[in-house]
Amino acid sequence: MRTAVFPGSFDPVTLGHVDVARRAATLFDRLVVAILINPDKQSNFTVEERIGMFRQALPDQPAIRYEGFSGLLADFVLAQGACAIVRGLRGAHDLEYETPMAWANYRLTGGAETILLPSMPEHTAISSSLVRQIAQFGGDISPYVPQAAVDLISRRFYNMGKGSTEGGKEHAKE
Ligand code: PNS
Repeated sequence: MRTAVFPGSFDPVTLGHVDVARRAATLFDRLVVAILINPDKQSNFTVEERIGMFRQALPDQPAIRYEGFSGLLADFVLAQGACAIVRGLRGAHDLEYETPMAWANYRLTGGAETILLPSMPEHTAISSSLVRQIAQFGGDISPYVPQAAVDLISRRFYNMGKGSTEGGKEHAKE
């Protein structure tokens, strides 16, 4: 069984992430979407919320599993018995960021390859940070995130803008 890991912060999940996961799942027997738990930075969404956003956007996908991870991605990849890491590639900037990580992860895992899937043209300008900025000021995020996640994301940032502590989280700024 060939397993790949699709890691990211997914804070929040975007249509670009969903598309990469959907396409990557067709290339492997099993795709593990690995959601970063960063102890140094409070995320805006819990791991469960981030998994929920993916699941609602990608129903009936038995080959896709979801896991939180912390520490080195390479250790998680080895623990999953995966042979590859999948990342989306929106352009040259992403390539510069991804290439050193791919080399490091290849060495750290003893040979797991990083597969860079080009984002579809309609997704190249989407990022989680863009969604966060738009949502903080009450803008329409529906072109950027899964339909089922629009309310959760909008409410989270709207409430933060109002100084609410609903959800128990501070919002991280990048
Ligand atoms: O969606 P992001 O924030 O661009 O994802 C970055 C991620 C999670 C893939 C990267 O930060 C990561 O792998 N973090 C885990 C720690 C690690 O292994 N760092 C070294 C990578 S060579």
